[in-house]
Amino acid sequence: TVDNGKRLAAWKAVDDLILPQQHRVIGLGSGSTIEHALQRIASRQELRSLIYVSTSFQTRQLILQNKLKLGTLEECPNGVDLTIDGADEVDQDLSAIKGGGGCLFQERLVAQASQDFYLIADERKKSTSLGTKYTRGIPVEVIPMALSSIQRILMTMHPEGSIQLRMANPSDKAGPVVTDNGNLLLDCQVGPLGDTAAAVYQDIKRLTGVVEVGLFCGMAKKAYFGNNDGTVDIWT
Ligand code: A5P
Repeated sequence: TVDNGKRLAAWKAVDDLILPQQHRVIGLGSGSTIEHALQRIASRQELRSLIYVSTSFQTRQLILQNKLKLGTLEECPNGVDLTIDGADEVDQDLSAIKGGGGCLFQERLVAQASQDFYLIADERKKSTSLGTKYTRGIPVEVIPMALSSIQRILMTMHPEGSIQLRMANPSDKAGPVVTDNGNLLLDCQVGPLGDTAAAVYQDIKRLTGVVEVGLFCGMAKKAYFGNNDGTVDIWT
């Protein structure tokens, strides 16, 4: 099952990558795959004394519920030794779409502060061109007052695309999804990115009003994929 794939990737990455003799501060991404990583960390006594930096409200709660040591970037002036994070889609260059859960800004902030950055996912997220598997579009976090102007600019930049404000499930809340930082999300469907992902990231990121773009290019060192057959593939 998909959940099994997530668990396999998460457990293998935790066991391979977190070395309690060498590492002190670990960054943890957000999403359902990271929940499995947290379970594994919490179950291994020698990993319980490390400091964990969260990337979302969700992960912060999980760190606290599991009685692990919560740290912030401000309290860790030497940075983060390594970060493990989920992804929505990963290509063979280890570029990824992230932000399906809306946590892209804090995820990138912690990744940027980390010596090494690793991705974990189930096999459905393996891709040959970003934008072909996760078809909801590239998540872009915007400051609320910039919403309409950024949406218009993105529509001009990608006339064939579709730029949609991410709405909450109306049975939970009326209106848009609001990020952990109080901002809004535009999901930008612009078709397969191929080798243009890094350029698309730069073009959108430089717009004033854009907080972050869910394209993580040239950041991950390895990606762990849990397969349906019980094996784990590691891309480097
Ligand atoms: C959160 O905003 C995302 O970047 C997640 O890391 C990504 O959506 C993967 O989530 P799942 O592990 O739940 O698939």
